[in-house]
Formats: sequence, structure tokens, C-alpha cells
Amino acid sequence: MKNIWVIANWKSNKTIAEALDWISKVGPQIPKADNLKVVVCPAFNALSEVKKAIEVGGFPLMLGAQDLSPFGLGAYTGEEPAELLSSFVDLAILGHSERRKNFGETDEIIAKKVEQTLANKIIPLVCVQGEETPVPEGCKLVAYEPIFAIGSGNSDTPENVNRMANLFKQRIDSDLKIIYGGSVNSGNVKSFITQEAISGVLVGNASLDAQEFIKICRTV
Ligand code: 13P
Repeated sequence: MKNIWVIANWKSNKTIAEALDWISKVGPQIPKADNLKVVVCPAFNALSEVKKAIEVGGFPLMLGAQDLSPFGLGAYTGEEPAELLSSFVDLAILGHSERRKNFGETDEIIAKKVEQTLANKIIPLVCVQGEETPVPEGCKLVAYEPIFAIGSGNSDTPENVNRMANLFKQRIDSDLKIIYGGSVNSGNVKSFITQEAISGVLVGNASLDAQEFIKICRTV
């Protein structure tokens, strides 16, 4: 059976109290299955507290960062280096289109971030927006997130996502895992994860609501 990833990207949302409330509701409801990988990616403010809450509750939840520094330790004010994050997170979302658009991230910067994750045992999840987006060396997990589908309520079709996933596998590596992001919710998640080339979902808005996210996990 293939591994299925369900990854919550909270973006710039949730206080520590709101994050802990979500963990206390979602944690106990996640089905325990070896092939289901559920990851929550809070903003940096809540990483440490969320990590503790997951450990204390013994929940089958992994923790992710939404970004990290392209550099290592040193004089890089404001940056969060992989070496410091590695004691908290299992995974890092890299190259999200919102970072490319609002923070000028280039493919070169994203490749450096991937290097940092790999050197520090963090799984890089690279977001690609279309066929032509490069996938840096060493990256085995990719999120296809077409810009029109993000936050619009207008998701891509499962068939097109499956086609894109196969294109990436052919171009890069047949073992590459591709997940889909863009207006995923409890009503449409099944249509994506039942496609043979799709290995999960990256969920924005619908992940903020604990009950909705539980429904997504149960459906998967
Ligand atoms: P929405 O689920 O809000 O469309 O966001 C998708 C996304 O950008 C996840 O990284």
C-alpha cells in the first residue's frame, strides 16, 4: 500500500493557544496507520509548544516548518537555520508560491534550502507550480500547487494532477512522490488520493479548522 501524506500548512495563522487547542482536538482523532503520514506545519511561534503537545499526547503527528534559512548557523538576522530547527521538525515546506511571490525566492535559493534540510535530516517538501519548475537534487517529495487553485475554492482536476504527477516522475525519478495542494477539503480529498500517481495532499485553509482536518484524515 502506498504511503499517503496529509500535510497541514497553517501559513501565518494561529496563536500558541489556538495551536494547542487544535492539537488537543486533532491528535486523538488521527487514525493510526503505518502508511498514513500526517504532518502539521505551524508558524515558527508555535513550533516548540506544538512539539511538546504531540509528545505528551503520544499522537501520530509529525511536525513541519513552513520555510527555513538557505544558510547555516551564523550572522543571518531573522533566519531560522535547519541546524536549529532539526531538533523540532521532521519536514520543511520549501519554495511555496507565496514565498516566491512575496519574498522573491528563486530556484537557486530553494536549492540551497534543500541542501540545508538534507544536511540536517529534515525532509524537504518542494512546492512546484507547473511543469517547468525545477526539483532540486535530493528532493523526493514534491507538492504540485498550481497558483490558480490556492485559496480560490477552485481546485485542479484530479485527472490533471495525476497527469502532472506522472510528468514529474518521468522527468525526474519514478520514485518521486507527488502530493497535491490547492483548495483541498473533506469533500474533494478522496478524488485526489485515489489517483494512482498522487501520494497525498497539502492543505491550507481547510487545515485551520480542527473538525474539517479530522474529516480529511479520516477520509484518507
Ligand atoms: P488552500 O488549501 O488554502 O488552497 O492552500 C493551499 C496551499 O497553499 C497549501 O500549501
